[in-house]
Amino acid sequence: MNYRHAYHAGNFADVLKHLVLVQVLQHLRRKDKPFYALDTHAGRGLYDLRGEAAEKTGEYREGIGRLLSLPEPLPPALADYLAAVRPYLTDSHYPGSPLLVQSMLREGDRALFAELHPEENAALLDALGRDRRVKVECRDGYEALRATLPPKERRGLVLVDPPFEEKGEMERLGKALREGLRRFATGQYLLWYPIKARADVRLLHDLVRSLEPKEALVAELTIWPERTELRLNGTGMVIVNPPYGLKEALAACLPLLARTLAREGPGGWRLEPLSTQTEKA
Ligand SMILES: C[S@@+](CC[C@H](N)C(=O)[O-])C[C@H]1O[C@@H](n2cnc3c(N)ncnc32)[C@H](O)[C@@H]1O
Repeated sequence: MNYRHAYHAGNFADVLKHLVLVQVLQHLRRKDKPFYALDTHAGRGLYDLRGEAAEKTGEYREGIGRLLSLPEPLPPALADYLAAVRPYLTDSHYPGSPLLVQSMLREGDRALFAELHPEENAALLDALGRDRRVKVECRDGYEALRATLPPKERRGLVLVDPPFEEKGEMERLGKALREGLRRFATGQYLLWYPIKARADVRLLHDLVRSLEPKEALVAELTIWPERTELRLNGTGMVIVNPPYGLKEALAACLPLLARTLAREGPGGWRLEPLSTQTEKA
């Protein structure tokens, strides 16, 4: 396990992932009933943008950094995301998914964060502080998914955001969703994936399609022309059981995000239900 999210925190992939996460959390908060959030690959929670790792890659400058000078009015979902991360930015930090989740939990809501790396896990505990609503476990996130679903609340989200360090991660994502849906069919699943080799993306989409979820939405953002499979050309999310209105909320943001975050050329985006999607060769 060599992956450290500190090198990538606040990059364009975090922007899309966290924007979607904030929207799904807002939707869950609309009903009074408590919800459960499971973050299977949680990371360290808080990232110092002046730290060595962040400065070494500078990825956050080309991600969240580029969004800060956008003229108002912003599409509502983008404004919501920026409102959620701004309190941390004032102190030159960027919040990981656990802190975003924690900031949106209400009194009766619960979250479980699985982070397997001991140092990242310890940092996460520190970042979250004392909070009865949250649990941090140093365990395999896929195992946590099997062990804790369905939640007693019977409503909630599962974010699966693995580091893609080892071969076979798309298959593991697909398997995790199969196991999740079997236990908790109405859960909202947020699966993150990198866009490098399109064949890998197709594999994940096929795996999700084969599970025949009631509804699944694909949202993608590409910042480089897809000429090589060796770099992170783009990022995508499969959102299973997307909340009402998510597609429209993302449709209002993605063209602007693509234009703003593109590194070469015009940038690209896709937003389609998985069932009707025509896969790129
Ligand atoms: C992409 S980062 C997570 C970023 C975080 N979700 C966020 O959005 O801020 C992936 C994390 O998964 C951890 N990890 C790797 N394998 C894991 C596993 N099997 N179970 C739980 N965590 C794992 C890594 O140590 C790393 O911190």
